[in-house]
Amino acid sequence: MKGISLEIHVGDVVAVLGANGAGKTTLLKVISGLMSPKSGTIRLMGEDLSKFPSYKLAGMGMAHVPEGRKVFATLTVDENLNLGTWGVRNQFNPRQIQETKEWIFTLFPILKTRRKQLAGTLSGGEQQMLAISRGLISKPKMLLLDEPSLGLAPILVQEIFKVIQKIHDEEKVSILLVEQNARKALSIADYGYILETGKIVISGPAVELKENEQIKAAYLGGARIQAT
Ligand SMILES: Nc1ncnc2c1ncn2[C@@H]1O[C@H](COP(=O)(O)OP(=O)(O)OP(=O)(O)O)[C@@H](O)[C@H]1O
Ligand SMILES: [Mg+2]
Repeated sequence: MKGISLEIHVGDVVAVLGANGAGKTTLLKVISGLMSPKSGTIRLMGEDLSKFPSYKLAGMGMAHVPEGRKVFATLTVDENLNLGTWGVRNQFNPRQIQETKEWIFTLFPILKTRRKQLAGTLSGGEQQMLAISRGLISKPKMLLLDEPSLGLAPILVQEIFKVIQKIHDEEKVSILLVEQNARKALSIADYGYILETGKIVISGPAVELKENEQIKAAYLGGARIQAT
C-alpha cells in the first residue's frame, strides 16, 4: 500500500470500495493504529495519531468495528458493550454511559431484549449490530466500519445501512465505511474512494462516482455486486 492520501471531513460519510484483497481492511487498520504506516501520518482533527497506541484511540474519539463481527462469544451482550467503555472510562461517568446504551438500544432494539444473552448465541445479524454498538458505546467522533453488511440477508443489510445513516444524522459522527456493496455505500456516502491493489485509483463525491462509467461497469451492477 503506497501513497494513499485520504481525507474525511467532520460529519462526512466516506466510502472505501474495492475488490477482495484491494487493501481496504489494511487501510482501516493503519488508520486505527492496529498497523503502523511505513511513512506518513494519520491525523484526527489535526492531532497526529501515530504517537498513540491503538488502545488510546477510543479515548480520542476513534472507534474501529473490525471485519467479521469480532464479538466475545462467551460474554453477554451487556458485557460486550461494557468492554467497549474501557477506553473512555475517564471521560464518561456511569450515568452518561447508561444514556449512550439507551441510545444504542433505540438504534438496535433487538439488542435490548437480548442483553443477558451470550453473544456467541446471537444470529449473525445481531452479532454485527453488537459489534457496531460496541464501537458506538465510546461515543466516537469517527467510526470505522469494515464491511458491516457482509453475509447479511438483504433485509438486514437495509437495516444496517439505515442505522449507519441514523448514527451519522443524529450524532454527526464521521464515518469511514468499507463496503463491497458499492451501490448501497455510495447511496449514503458523501465522498468515495476506490482502492485497487493498495492504491486509490478513483476518488470523488459519491454522486459523481455513482455516474462514473468505469465504476458502474466494475462495481455497480456487475457480477461482483450480485455475489455479495
Ligand atoms: N499481515 C499481513 N501480511 C501479509 N500480507 C497481508 C497481511 N494482511 C493483509 N495482507 C495482504 O494484503 C492484501 C490486502 O488485504 P486486505 O485484508 O486489506 O484486503 P481487503 O480489501 O480488506 O479484502 P477483503 O475484501 O477480502 O476483505 C491482501 O493481498 C492480503 O493477503
Ligand atoms: Mg477486508
